[in-house]
Amino acid sequence: MNILGIESSCDDTGLAIINSSGIIIDHITSSQHEIHAKYGGIVPELASRDHVKKFIPLLEILLHKNRINMNDIDIIAFTNGPGLLGPLLAGASLSKTLGWSNNIPTIAVNHLEAHIYSPMITEKNLKPPFVSLLVSGGHTILSSVDENFQINTLGTTLDDSAGECFDKIARKLNLGYPGGPEIAKRSELSNKNNFNFPRPMIRSNDYNFSFSGLKTHALNTILAIELTNENINNISYELQSAIVDTLISKSIKASKDLGIKDIVITGGVSANKKLREDFSLIKECRAYFPDVKFSTDNGAMIAYAGFLKSKSSASKKNYTIKPNPSLSL
Ligand code: KG4
Ligand code: ZN
Repeated sequence: MNILGIESSCDDTGLAIINSSGIIIDHITSSQHEIHAKYGGIVPELASRDHVKKFIPLLEILLHKNRINMNDIDIIAFTNGPGLLGPLLAGASLSKTLGWSNNIPTIAVNHLEAHIYSPMITEKNLKPPFVSLLVSGGHTILSSVDENFQINTLGTTLDDSAGECFDKIARKLNLGYPGGPEIAKRSELSNKNNFNFPRPMIRSNDYNFSFSGLKTHALNTILAIELTNENINNISYELQSAIVDTLISKSIKASKDLGIKDIVITGGVSANKKLREDFSLIKECRAYFPDVKFSTDNGAMIAYAGFLKSKSSASKKNYTIKPNPSLSL
C-alpha cells in the first residue's frame, strides 16, 4: 500500500509517498518564500496560483524518480485545513480529481494533527502519551495526546503565535520573510548584551501564551534605538531567548503537572536551533523534534497522518470533502 500526501495550506507545496509500514519512499517540497518575501508576508492569491502551477510538475518528478505510477497509489491524503482558503482549495481539487479519475480513496488530514505526529515519521519508538507543543506561523498550542491518539488542548496563545512574533519583528528589522530563520541567524552573531525582554505569562498558573506584549516591547525598543548591525543581532538574540524560555517553561509545567515525561515539539518554529538545544538540556523530560526538514510545512507529515488515519478508519471514495480554513484540533 502506498499513500500519496499533498500539502498546500499556506506557502509550501509539499508532496510525499509513504509505504504500508509508514516509511517515507520520497518527498518533495517547493517553497514560495521568494515570491512573498518582497511583500513581507504571504499574499494568498499568489500562493494559490503558485500551488496550481507547481502541483503536476512536482508530482511527475516524484512519481518518475521512484518509478511509481498512479496505479501504485492506494490512498491520497490531503490537507483540508486549517490554512488559507485558496491554497487549500487548490490542494483539495487536485487530490479529489486524482482520486476520482484513478479510482483511489482520499483522506482529509488536519494540518495541525499532521504537525503533531511528524516526529514519528523518523522516531519509530515514539508513541503517545506525550505532551505536544505545536509552534508554527499560525498556532501556538500546548496539548496532551493520550495512548488512543486523543488530543486534549491545554492552552493556546491568547493573541499572536510564536512564529508570528518572529515574523513581525523580523519585518521591522528589515530581515525579510519568513522571519524565524533570519532572527535565528542574527542571534548567532550577537554579543548577547544590551537588551532585557519580558518572558510573557511565565508565572501564570495555566498553559496559555501571549506574545503580543513581547512584540510591542521589541517594537518600542526598535523605535528608540539606531538599527545598527550590532543592535539587530542583539535584539534578535533577546527576542529568540524570550520566546524559547517561555515555550520551554510552559511545556515543562505541563509535563510535570500531567506526569508525562515525553514532550513533542513541532511546527515551523521547532526548526529553531536554540529551542532544540535548550530543550535537550532539561533533565526532567525527553524532548522529541521532527527531522528539521519536516518541521516546516511538508507533504511527508500529511502522508504520515493519512497513514495513521488509514489504520483506524476505512478510507472512502468520497470526493465531496470540503476544505475548512479554520479547522481546529
Ligand atoms: O509550520 P509552518 O511552516 O507553517 C504554518 O503552518 O504556519 O511555520 C512557519 C513559521 C514561520 O513563522 C517561520 O518564521 C517559523 O515557522 N520558523 C522558524 C524557523 N524556521 C521557521 N522560527 C524560528 N526559528 C526557525 N529556524
Ligand atoms: Zn504548518
